[in-house]
Order: sequence, then C-alpha cells, then structure tokens
Amino acid sequence: MEITYFGHSALQIRVAGATILVDPFINGNRFAETVVSVESLRPDVILLTHAHGDHWGDTAAIAEASDALVVANYEITQYLSRQHGYEKSFGMNTGGRRDFGWGRLTVTYARHSSSFPDGSFGGNPNGFVLDADGCTAYVMGDTALFAEMEWIGRDHDIDVAFMPIGDCFTMGPDAAVRAAGMIKPGLTVPVHYNTFPPIEVDVDAWAESMAGAGFAARIVEPGETFSV
Ligand code: NI
Ligand code: MN
Repeated sequence: MEITYFGHSALQIRVAGATILVDPFINGNRFAETVVSVESLRPDVILLTHAHGDHWGDTAAIAEASDALVVANYEITQYLSRQHGYEKSFGMNTGGRRDFGWGRLTVTYARHSSSFPDGSFGGNPNGFVLDADGCTAYVMGDTALFAEMEWIGRDHDIDVAFMPIGDCFTMGPDAAVRAAGMIKPGLTVPVHYNTFPPIEVDVDAWAESMAGAGFAARIVEPGETFSV
C-alpha cells in the first residue's frame, strides 16, 4: 500500500487495483490546501467514515469529476443521490464486510456522531479495516476509545492504524496509546490533530508515549507519501 497524507483525516491509499481516497476534506483544510487541489484528485474509490464536514469535505465535487465509487454508510449514499443526483455509490453499515476486488472492507464501529454540514442526518459514524495486497490498514475514523477495539485487534492483523489523537472531538493522545494496546498495530499514524485550535496537541510527545508503550509511531507530513 502506498499512502499519501493530506492533513486532518484526508488520505489516499493506492493499492494494486485502485486509488482510494479517504475522507477528502481538502478545501478549508489548511494542510491539504498547501499540498493538493480538489481538481488534481482522480480516485477510483472514495471511502467516507462519516458525514461531518471535515470528512465529507469535497466528496461530491471529486466524485463527479472522477466518476469514483463512493463507499460509505447507507444514509450518506442516499444523501449523495438526493442532493447531488450521484448514484455511483455503495452503502454499507457497521459490521458489514465486502470484497470489492481491489480489496476487502470491514466496516467497524466508531464512537462518535455523524451529521452533514446542512444538519441532515448522516447515519452512524464508522471506521474501516481495508485488506488489500496482503496488507491491512485500519482507518479508525473519528472515535473515542471503546472496549471492542480489543476484538478488532484480535480479528485483524493490522499493519497500520490511522488514529485520531486531537482530543476534544475524538480520542486524545493518551487514549490513542491505550487504543494501540488493544488493536496492536504494526505502525500507528496520527490523524485529526492541529488542524484547528481545539484539536492542537503535542504530536511529538504523543509519538514518544507510543514508543514508550512499545508501538511504532510515524508522524506523516501533509503531502508526504509512504509505503506499508
Ligand atoms: Ni466527526
Ligand atoms: Mn472530524
């Protein structure tokens, strides 16, 4: 897997069969705006964890321009159809698993909320475990710590986990270290921090705590690409 981080929770995962864009919040994302443009993104798949504006972001515009398959919870796919006339989507929900050819997705629970920027209901928030090319990535989505992370760690051999650490709206740095103890990932990558004042944290201190707990942590700069 070749992963490019755009800041906040926006990332692109390139696997052999597809380019997958996750939570494409680009316009209004102070990190993404300096390293990528909405017009330059041409994914095959857009994967959404929930409907909040800092995740839904530029989904409609990118989907329309790229003809991407949008995979999200059922309510988000309905909203795309209703508000944007966009039908190339696949709705899933918590606990669902599906093989898409380019990879297998398992939709995980996330302890959070989900509404669109216009206030309409955005279904339940989720995370995703992606198995592709012999590699397993866990996109946790916006979530608090929850006990069943233990099960996710038992059910999947996770190579890389994208974990929110910004606190205030999601887990903070300490909870993220506890989460790693439950999911036991080969590598942890922090997301959802420092974009806005309420989620400013000391990411270097977080990485030290993670290392102290025995887990590899990699701080990825916006625009940076790495392979797992
Ligand atoms: Ni959110
Ligand atoms: Mn968020």
